[in-house]
Amino acid sequence: TPAASSAAKPGAPLVVAHRGASAYAPENTFAAIDKARDMGFTWVENDVQRTKDGELVIMHDATLKRTTNVEQVFPDRAPWKVADFTAAEIAKLDAGSWFSPKYAGQRVPTLKQYMQRVSRNKQSLVFEFKKPELYPGIEKQGLRVLRQTGWLDKQHVKKKLVIQSFSADSVKTVHELRPDVKTGFLGTPAVADLPRYAKFSDQINATHTSISADYVKAIHALKGPHKKRLEIFTWTINDAPNAVRAARFGVDGIITNTPDVVRKAVRKG
Ligand code: G3P
Ligand code: CA
Repeated sequence: TPAASSAAKPGAPLVVAHRGASAYAPENTFAAIDKARDMGFTWVENDVQRTKDGELVIMHDATLKRTTNVEQVFPDRAPWKVADFTAAEIAKLDAGSWFSPKYAGQRVPTLKQYMQRVSRNKQSLVFEFKKPELYPGIEKQGLRVLRQTGWLDKQHVKKKLVIQSFSADSVKTVHELRPDVKTGFLGTPAVADLPRYAKFSDQINATHTSISADYVKAIHALKGPHKKRLEIFTWTINDAPNAVRAARFGVDGIITNTPDVVRKAVRKG
């Protein structure tokens, strides 16, 4: 089992609420992580990007269009890129109504606000630098916010934090800046290439459709940069059969919009 584990039973994968409990509350908002907490989930996942004036915010898409009311508030600012708006402008947006009127008034959190909320909820975090190639230097900046909010303390680093990205360069940069922090590479490298990734990445976090029992075995045969068994978290599984399949492969974590469904399945399966 991973060092940081709230697995339902010994050997069962850790269940990570993707963008919060995003099937039940608007993704990447306080409501989504609070919902995960209320459902009993310690681990959440997020996406981090940067505004025009250099603030880090929690947002999945490179544009604000899908998950806020930006089109109504700033109709002449297409294509509504995160990087084209200031933090003050983004703070005015409603990030909940698109999901349900029940969540009207939810905001796009800044990274700092988000980390404080995750702390308050006593949760743990799979932190993703999203499209870091758009934001030079974001790794150093993100780590600074994590340090300022207490997230690079020994206890957090040991048990409560993983930093991941689809960009191998970004993961490498994080590992070089803070070799103590656990990292994850998002993707499914060929088995022959895994040893190269294991130099800077503690986890290989792959889509569930791309993995097999043999692939999981190949990962577990290696050691990560911290000399512990290389791990695999798989995503995004929102149904019981695929959760059971991944659990049987022996994955270390399942990233899901429906953590309740996955928890139930892996307990039974
Ligand atoms: O954590 C895995 C997953 O979040 C990666 O894909 O596009 O949902 O950020 P995406
Ligand atoms: Ca993500």
